[in-house]
Amino acid sequence: MTHTPSMRDTCGLLREAWYVATTAAELGRRPLARTILEEDLVLWRDASGAPRCLLDRCLHRNARLSEGTVDGDVLVCPYHGWHYEAGGACVRVPSRGPEGRERCPSQRVPSFPTREAGGLVWVWMGDPANIPVEPFSMPFWHHDGWRSYYMVTPFSADVTDCAENFMDVPHTVYTHAGWFRSQSQKRVPATVERREREVLVTYDHSNDVIGFTHLLVNPRREPVRHTDHFFMPNVTRVDYHFGADRSFIITSQCTPVRPAETLVYTAITFRLGLANPLARLVLPPYTRQVIRQDQEILANQAGSLARYGRAFHNTEADALHVYIESLRRAALEGRPPPKPARCDIVFHV
Ligand code: FES
Ligand SMILES: [Fe+2]
Repeated sequence: MTHTPSMRDTCGLLREAWYVATTAAELGRRPLARTILEEDLVLWRDASGAPRCLLDRCLHRNARLSEGTVDGDVLVCPYHGWHYEAGGACVRVPSRGPEGRERCPSQRVPSFPTREAGGLVWVWMGDPANIPVEPFSMPFWHHDGWRSYYMVTPFSADVTDCAENFMDVPHTVYTHAGWFRSQSQKRVPATVERREREVLVTYDHSNDVIGFTHLLVNPRREPVRHTDHFFMPNVTRVDYHFGADRSFIITSQCTPVRPAETLVYTAITFRLGLANPLARLVLPPYTRQVIRQDQEILANQAGSLARYGRAFHNTEADALHVYIESLRRAALEGRPPPKPARCDIVFHV
């Protein structure tokens, strides 16, 4: 079978990952179409409720299976009704009448391993022999005293630029002026570490104030512990902890759809004691607005990158970008990760 190479064919080790395909809540018995690394996929739940995933392309005349139906445990093509079991084998060709169960093509529709965890459905896009035990563990999912919700947002940007934006502090006083942080030229020392598959930033910013939500998340003005974490190949986790028992965590799963197209599953996770129910009402419109601002600035940046290529002038505050790019570039080129590194930086917001 020949086809134009997809991102999956050309992204080296970046395909060896569990990528989020959908929230668990959105996936039911009806086929759902998704694109990951330029591969068109169809997902559905089988009769036991388990998520299943095949390439979205019928063996017969190539119709998209995602526009078909699920009947018991089989997926039925919308064009001539070929039946497929979850492993991608054709089990019935209706036009062949009573013999249509025996005389199916021996070829299968490619299938992809799936997992359901942390309120998400994941698809393994790499070599099945390389599957790690489980996908990324969503922090404090369904833990006592913690609440979480998801937002799903399409970005016109690639995974690297999305992940870097989600960990970038200096932009918060411009892109999110008045919403997240306000410019006050406060000095912020930080340590940036690159590990084998991670970049970790630890900020010394204990009097940080996060927009008007500060009254909700940190009313007692306790010292703030802020860390930003990137996990290869596509996850960021931003932690704010206030004193001993209040926390606010933003975890972003960046699913590569096509070049300069990323679907981001953002988990907002918090533990705010008696303010939990109020936070569940107030935080969604607030976080939605902040993400909308990032969507716009990343589309703005992607336009220039597409026109002129990547030529950056980095400052100390960009150390984490340089580290993230070095890890992702090595994986893209199929090389082992660069050596661990660490630097102390200072910037002002
Ligand atoms: S194209 Fe799918 S059954 Fe004909
Ligand atoms: Fe942002």
